[in-house]
Amino acid sequence: MKSLPLVIATLSLAASIGGCRSTDAVTETPMETTHRMRTGGSIDGRPVNLFTLRNANGMEVEVMDHGATVTRVIVPDRDGNPVDVVLGFDTAEEYPEKSQYFGCTVGRVGNRIAGGRFELDGKAYALAANNGPNHLHGGEVGFDKRRWDADPIMTAKGPGVRFTLTSADGEEGYPGRVEAETIYVLTDRNELEVEMSATTDAPTPVNIVHHTYWNLGGHDSGTILDEVLRIRADRYTPVDGTFIPTGDLAPVAGTAVDFRTAKRIGRDIDAYPGDQAEGGEDPGGYDHNFCLDGEAGTMREVVRLSDPRTGIVMTITTDQPGIQFYTGNFLNGMTGKGGAVYEKFGGLCLETQAYPDSINHAGEPGWPDVVLRPGDTYRHRMVHRFGID
Ligand code: GLA
Repeated sequence: MKSLPLVIATLSLAASIGGCRSTDAVTETPMETTHRMRTGGSIDGRPVNLFTLRNANGMEVEVMDHGATVTRVIVPDRDGNPVDVVLGFDTAEEYPEKSQYFGCTVGRVGNRIAGGRFELDGKAYALAANNGPNHLHGGEVGFDKRRWDADPIMTAKGPGVRFTLTSADGEEGYPGRVEAETIYVLTDRNELEVEMSATTDAPTPVNIVHHTYWNLGGHDSGTILDEVLRIRADRYTPVDGTFIPTGDLAPVAGTAVDFRTAKRIGRDIDAYPGDQAEGGEDPGGYDHNFCLDGEAGTMREVVRLSDPRTGIVMTITTDQPGIQFYTGNFLNGMTGKGGAVYEKFGGLCLETQAYPDSINHAGEPGWPDVVLRPGDTYRHRMVHRFGID
């Protein structure tokens, strides 16, 4: 049993060479030098598989088939010391127990749908209300809680893993059978590329989102409040008390969500103190969707994040119209990797996406179309590039 995972990895590589749907040519580089695979514990009595990607510059990315999840990203700091910059857990079992979507692929629709209700082609749909009155991150058992099939791949840019998942017609109340794919690739340019795509056999909303919690000071370094962030966005989507967009695409100018010029995250965060009075569930902090500058469908650099402690910088380039900037407001002191304690503001998410609740703003000027139809392919790319300030 012990040697089984490596056998699977080798076979999967052969299969991916034959039928690879990746955008890049597959090279002949032997997998053993760049992939390390080990069992990562088990969930529901089934072993979980982990894959490690390495590049020539000391970067390492570990991904897991449960939730198509990123569990570890090692980046050298300004002195060349390895730093793990993502929050996570030591065992696979802890992900379903304690995780607040750590590192996973969220779907079929990331973020919220008001009241869990929408209409599509004249038909009304009702989804689980799993977040107060609203539907969040695909429902009770979204893509993050599913086991994905995994194929190690070797692309012209570097090693990767291709995860695939079938979401049945009617799953979590959504119409249509969806075939989803997430590909992670680590390049020698110190990039972690995430490519998400999907097809369907009936019209359905799709907004697949990558949900890593970053802390460029190290996952165990405390809060992200001293990190410096720039977001290229003139507008954002203000929300009501349950985090549902009001429908406005409001200017960031003159508000605490103005990140057009790089600023320390902690500087204006108190502008969002939250509301926990009378059962209110907003813990405060940033949890906002930005309407990214430039044209959706076109790759453009939209985010730059840097950490003064390690000197590590991360930029994000994407083809998406929006990004959720979330400062880990609901982190509750859970114990993570190596005994690290993740308190509020202990990590941040930068989730490229279509705007939250877009399905209920269909056709409104400025709002993205999130309906995927048979014959079309949903595509979402994000490239995280690491460097030193
Ligand atoms: C997203 C949401 C947050 C929260 C987290 C998960 O980022 O915007 O409100 O639900 O996911 O805890």
